[in-house]
Amino acid sequence: MDKAIFILSAITTCIPFISLESQSGLKITPGELWPDTEGYHINAHGGGILKHKGTWYWFGESRLPKGERDRTNYGVGCYSSKDLVEWDNEGLALRVADDTTSLLRYGCLIERPKVIFNKKTGKFVMWFHHELRGQGYRAALTGVAVSDNVTGPYKYLRSLRPNAGVWPLNFPDEFKNLMVNEADFKGKPAERIKAVKEGLYLRRDFKGGQMARDMTLFVDRDGKAYHIHSSEENMILHFSELTEDYLDFTGKYYRVLPGESNEAPAIFYANKKYFMFTSGTTGWKPNPGRLASADKITGEWKSLGNPCRGTDEENSTTFRSQSTFILPLKPKKNKFIYMGDRWIPENLADSRHIWLPVEWEEDIPVIKWRQSWDLNNFK
Ligand code: GAL
Repeated sequence: MDKAIFILSAITTCIPFISLESQSGLKITPGELWPDTEGYHINAHGGGILKHKGTWYWFGESRLPKGERDRTNYGVGCYSSKDLVEWDNEGLALRVADDTTSLLRYGCLIERPKVIFNKKTGKFVMWFHHELRGQGYRAALTGVAVSDNVTGPYKYLRSLRPNAGVWPLNFPDEFKNLMVNEADFKGKPAERIKAVKEGLYLRRDFKGGQMARDMTLFVDRDGKAYHIHSSEENMILHFSELTEDYLDFTGKYYRVLPGESNEAPAIFYANKKYFMFTSGTTGWKPNPGRLASADKITGEWKSLGNPCRGTDEENSTTFRSQSTFILPLKPKKNKFIYMGDRWIPENLADSRHIWLPVEWEEDIPVIKWRQSWDLNNFK
């Protein structure tokens, strides 16, 4: 059934392309259709990449073709590659459920999935932004699934709002009992931002758990993993520590860049610092990219401005993309790849993958436009 829809969508939305084998080198052409080894545009958006036993695995949103209800998806697509250019479609790692009682039922949204490997349990753990069928983006949940095999199938465990009943470790006591309401700040944007910083939504969602929308995962050098997500009406990022098995939250979490409205977080470690690319919050429309850094993963994070080095138009749209992942190609040699999405909201399956080499201005990572670039020359 899914397969049939997939093939139909591929025929209607993508034209098979010539295999990249016929081209020389390992060319990346940001913004063009990127055919897999069967000739179909890679349907793995808002995704991330995991290297396991010498193979790269790309996980991302597998979107339904143009015109499908709710711009929803089939689940999480998985592709594998030895060279990061030629990708084999491994099918769906996680698929939406036929069971109408499941939260994962067809019609829900699965966005920005990321997979990490847990060395202690030997299991692959996937987390994703999960919105419920027919509820737009109101649920603001994060979902978790697990598998013994990298390509899946992943077993869906549950979806939740994290950190119910616990305060962030960096939230001052003096704000824990403030008595203010959202209505007090109608038409007063500056006051509202101040109130948000002082925990307006944090307190509102304290009992039921904190909102979790755009997300990523990051495994630190000590093996601890963090779930990093837009929270508090997308106005603050939460860095939440995961349990040893990566399947749950420990309840230790930090608020990062309060009131700055960051989405699309993508984190990496280089030059003894943590760096984070994010975007602003303009939905599918691109906006100026942002960069922040910290000495510790838990902060304090400092904004470093826009990491784009292009024309005004390019800088104000992040080369018409939104960050999703920073791929550690050769982290010890400071070789990273920026992965972003150039969203096409009318046909999300067709959204383009914007991969650019991360370049260094002294110790600041930046990105510049490349019409086409060769991975061989970057390694
Ligand atoms: C973006 C977000 C995407 C998607 C979109 C929906 O801001 O980064 O992942 O949720 O909004 O409008």
